[in-house]
Amino acid sequence: MTTPSPLHDAPLLDIRDLRTQFGFGPATVNAVQGVDLRIAPGEIVGLVGESGSGKSVLALSIMRLIQKPGRIAGGKILFDGRDVLAMSARDLGRWRGRDIGIIFQQPQGCLNPVRRIGWQVAEPLRQQERLSRKGAWDGAVALLRSVGIPAPEQKALAYPHQLSGGQAQRVMIAIALALRPRLLIADEPTTALDVTIQAQILELLRDSCRHAGTSLLLVTHDLGVVARLADRVAVMYAGRIVEDGPVATMLDHPAHPYARGLLRAAPRLGQSVGERLQDIPGGIPDLSRPTAGCAFAPRCGRRASLALARCREEMPPLDPVAPGHRLRCWAAPDATGDGP
Ligand SMILES: Nc1ncnc2c1ncn2[C@@H]1O[C@H](COP(=O)(O)OP(=O)(O)O)[C@@H](O)[C@H]1O
Ligand code: SF4
Ligand SMILES: [Mg+2]
Repeated sequence: MTTPSPLHDAPLLDIRDLRTQFGFGPATVNAVQGVDLRIAPGEIVGLVGESGSGKSVLALSIMRLIQKPGRIAGGKILFDGRDVLAMSARDLGRWRGRDIGIIFQQPQGCLNPVRRIGWQVAEPLRQQERLSRKGAWDGAVALLRSVGIPAPEQKALAYPHQLSGGQAQRVMIAIALALRPRLLIADEPTTALDVTIQAQILELLRDSCRHAGTSLLLVTHDLGVVARLADRVAVMYAGRIVEDGPVATMLDHPAHPYARGLLRAAPRLGQSVGERLQDIPGGIPDLSRPTAGCAFAPRCGRRASLALARCREEMPPLDPVAPGHRLRCWAAPDATGDGP
């Protein structure tokens, strides 16, 4: 088990200027507005931002799962050097099956209610590894054991409604990791679970990915969660990354006023989201109305206190401020002080 060194590894996933939209004409919602993000092999990246900031759309875009009227309007997604946006449907199917897995918030909704869970875990093994029925079943039982399902031989015979929420999410993790994908995307994987179960599931995710050398993009609105798990954190606001960097930097000295606000509002596991985000007054801007300046300007106490006129006029670029640390803000990092 090694901690990856993202600065030196060639990226497994390399997203460049990705743009995803919904709808047409003046009603077009620009949900992802030019995202650049890299994930190294074996790296755990936390993607944080409040509800509506574009995290799920980015996650679905990476897998090319955006449905009409949505579309990827521009940019590139390279996976181990392969151009994901140029893949044929056949290549895409193979790539999704082998190299990449996804886990959503509601595990019960992703499982087939009328199939025994053992077969649902065994299915990818049968299809992709061409195992016999018996071989795939045994593989499924072993996977269920590895994700901490008690008495896995018996539980493999159960139907989804016979599982608790935590057990169902463990099963989803087993399915997602069955073929040892190179990248796992987990979109708010513990939000629907009991507080006491959340930490266990997150630790399971982290340990499983570390053990298999799988990269993890962990989407969450919760900085407390990434603190426990991630190597690196990217903060998303209104469809853009506004800051990213090593987890220690992002938790101890975030530079972006929005990241600071999120950190101040950071929860203990299980507090309600609504309570915490009240700490940053205002809401995400209307994504169908492009603004010239910084999208955070209307909410930004830093802009107000420094009287920065530029913030309203010109979008700040996402620029490096230190090795592995990028910031999208006109206020210099050393001028950001303690306040927002
Ligand atoms: N299917 C869709 N049709 C129209 N707009 C959508 C669709 N899915 C997401 N959006 C919009 O994209 C924006 C980002 O949403 P989302 O990625 O779900 O945010 P997050 O996951 O960060 O909470 C929101 O404004 C949302 O309304
Ligand atoms: S660019 Fe200006 S408005 Fe935007 S976060 Fe920085 S200080 Fe605030
Ligand atoms: Mg979401």
